[in-house]
Amino acid sequence: MNGRTRWLGIIGYPIRHSLSPLMHNAAFEALDMDYCYIPLAVEPRRMRSAVDALQWLGFRGFNVTIPHKQRIMAFMDRLTPEAKLIGAVNTVEIQRDRLIGHNTDGRGFLGALREETGRSVAGLRVLLLGAGGAARAVAFQLALDGVRTLLIANRSSERAQGLARNLRRSSVQCSVSVLPWAEEALKTGAQQSDIIINATSVGMNPADPPLLSSTILRPHHVVCDLIYKPPMTALLKQAQKAGAMTISGLGMLVHQGALSFEIWTGRRPPVDVMREALHQAIMP
Ligand SMILES: NC(=O)c1ccc[n+]([C@@H]2O[C@H](COP(=O)([O-])OP(=O)(O)OC[C@H]3O[C@@H](n4cnc5c(N)ncnc54)[C@H](OP(=O)(O)O)[C@@H]3O)[C@@H](O)[C@H]2O)c1
Repeated sequence: MNGRTRWLGIIGYPIRHSLSPLMHNAAFEALDMDYCYIPLAVEPRRMRSAVDALQWLGFRGFNVTIPHKQRIMAFMDRLTPEAKLIGAVNTVEIQRDRLIGHNTDGRGFLGALREETGRSVAGLRVLLLGAGGAARAVAFQLALDGVRTLLIANRSSERAQGLARNLRRSSVQCSVSVLPWAEEALKTGAQQSDIIINATSVGMNPADPPLLSSTILRPHHVVCDLIYKPPMTALLKQAQKAGAMTISGLGMLVHQGALSFEIWTGRRPPVDVMREALHQAIMP
C-alpha cells in the first residue's frame, strides 16, 4: 500500500464472517492492480457517519451487507433501476461526491446458474423458498430473465405475499403465486417446477434439517442453495441423493462480487482466481 493505493471495502454488522475481502484482494493481486479491499464493522446507528467518511477518505466504492442493505438506499444520490426494483443496495459506487446504489445479487445468482447449467431460465418454472433480501433480488432477476412461473413459499406468509405483490405491480411479466409453508404444498410446488431455490437461511447450521426430502426431489430438478457455507447443505445432499443437479451459493457470491468489481474498476476480474480463493476458505 502506498499513497496511490485505491480503497474499497464492505460495511456490515457484524462483518467478521465476510469472505469478500479475500475474494477481491485475490483478484487485485492477480491483475497487479493497486487496490485494497477492507472489511468495516459499522453499527447501524453510525451508518450515516461511516458513509460520509468513506466518501471523504476517497474510497472508490464499497459493498453493503446485513443489516444495512435497505437503509442505505436513503443515502444514495441515484439508484439503478435494479436496486430500485429489488428495494436493496449491495454495491455503492462513489463518483466524486455522488453515491450510486447498485444491486448485483440477482444478476450474480443468474450468472452462476447460467454458468453451471449452460442454459437460460427463459420459459422455466421456479419454486423459490424464502422472501428475505436475497430472495427478492433473485425473484426480480428471474422475472426479468423471463421465467414462466414463480412459486414463492416463505415461513411468514405476509412477507411472501408482499414480494408477490411487488412483482405483480412491477413491469415484469411472469405468473407469480404464493404457496403455504407446508410439506404438502411444497411437494406440489416442486412437482410443478424445473428449478428449486433455497433463499432462506435454513441450512447455514449443519444441524439444520433439509427443507425438502429426497422423495419430493426428482432427477430433472436443478436445486440451488444460496448458502455457500457449508458448501453442501442438507437440501443439496437430498437433491444429490435424488439424482438432481445441485448448485451451491458459491457461484452467486463470486458473480455478484465480479459485477461489483467491474462497476468500481471498469475491468473484468479473474473469476477463477476469486472462486479458488473462496474455495480454499470454505472447504472443510
Ligand atoms: N451466495 C450469496 O452470494 C448470497 C448472497 C446473499 C444471501 N445469501 C444467503 O441467503 C440466505 C438469506 O439471506 P437474506 O439476506 O435474504 O436474509 P434475510 O433477509 O434475513 O431473510 C432470511 C430468510 O430466511 C427465512 N428463515 C429464517 N429462519 C427460518 C426458519 N427457521 N425456517 C424457515 N425460514 C426461515 C426467513 O423467513 P421469514 O421471513 O419467515 O423470517 C427469510 O425468508 C442466507 O443464508 C445468506 O447467507 C447468499
